[in-house]
Amino acid sequence: MKIIGTGSALPKKVVTNDMLTEFFDTSDEWIRTRTGISTRRILTDESLIDLAIEASQKALESANLKAEDLDFILCSNVNNNYVYPSMSSIVQGKIGAKCPCTDLRNACAGFIYALDVADAFIQTGRAKKILVLAAEEPTRFCHWEHRETSVLFGDGAGAAVVTEGGDYKGAQFTTISMPDVLYQRQRLEPTPFEDLSSGAYINHTMVMQGREVFKMAVTCCSNEISKLLDIYGYKKEDVKYFVLHQANLRIINGIQQYLGADASQFPTTVEKYGNTSSASVPILLDELVKGNKIQRGDMIVMSGFGAGFTTGSLLMKY
Ligand code: UT7
Repeated sequence: MKIIGTGSALPKKVVTNDMLTEFFDTSDEWIRTRTGISTRRILTDESLIDLAIEASQKALESANLKAEDLDFILCSNVNNNYVYPSMSSIVQGKIGAKCPCTDLRNACAGFIYALDVADAFIQTGRAKKILVLAAEEPTRFCHWEHRETSVLFGDGAGAAVVTEGGDYKGAQFTTISMPDVLYQRQRLEPTPFEDLSSGAYINHTMVMQGREVFKMAVTCCSNEISKLLDIYGYKKEDVKYFVLHQANLRIINGIQQYLGADASQFPTTVEKYGNTSSASVPILLDELVKGNKIQRGDMIVMSGFGAGFTTGSLLMKY
């Protein structure tokens, strides 16, 4: 597999840390020192589908392809206006593609899983040109009276078009079934046949044990990346950029220190966009590509972590 195009899209509404002090007891100083975040973008009069379409069209344009050329669309998405149909099937119709599609629900690590699935499709000859999309609106997972989570997130979409090529080395994945550390309950409709006091209809917003997620993220992602470098015979110095999930600057610094790599190898967008869940890796990748920071042939690592508890890391040549 190789990447032949990238694209991204963000909401226009910029929300500063100071603006959040209107809703709960927090401060610009706390948010910046604990997370590195100064601003985030939040959906207002656009929809997530608009962002997903824009990111997809930009990725197709930069790949020099038309939507009809695609033979599969994979989308990482956990929350949008619809429980079904899938986000990928909505985007397919709007951009004028005709191919089959499916969504993956691996939250913040979702883009890494989607790229690995795309590679498997290409290797087995089942598809040649695939749009891999991540579109997320985590600001709607949050309870907007909970400062512990609401200050962390922003919305966004990022995409890559991939095709046959020898650039992909491989991936490492970790699933530790611990829903309690980070989860969101589905909003369910009650039936007349059950005990409504069971608690199933309350608390459908995000619940997170921040410190636990922080530690697990640093440990699991660092281990996965070290293993990848070992397996494929690369040193940390051979990697141009570690394109990590943009959740918290301190988590990124933790992984950097664990690997003993240089800070300049860890580009970030978390300061301006906050945590956009699985969209953060492709948004950052797109910024590096469009800013001519990544050249053809550069080695890159991508890595994501989240939802109780799922991580993934991959190594490839750009
Ligand atoms: O995509 C994956 C998603 N999740 C993550 O990446 C989260 C990973 N975890 C983290 O990034 C960090 O754990 C947080 C940023 C969430 C929290 O940072 P922390 O350094 O672990 O702080 P803490 O949870 O230990 O809280 C420290 C204090 C507490 O007050 P007390 O008990 O010490 O009096 C909190 O109540 O900070 C308080 N606090 C806040 N204060 C001001 C928590 N949230 C806020 C806030 N503003 N927004």
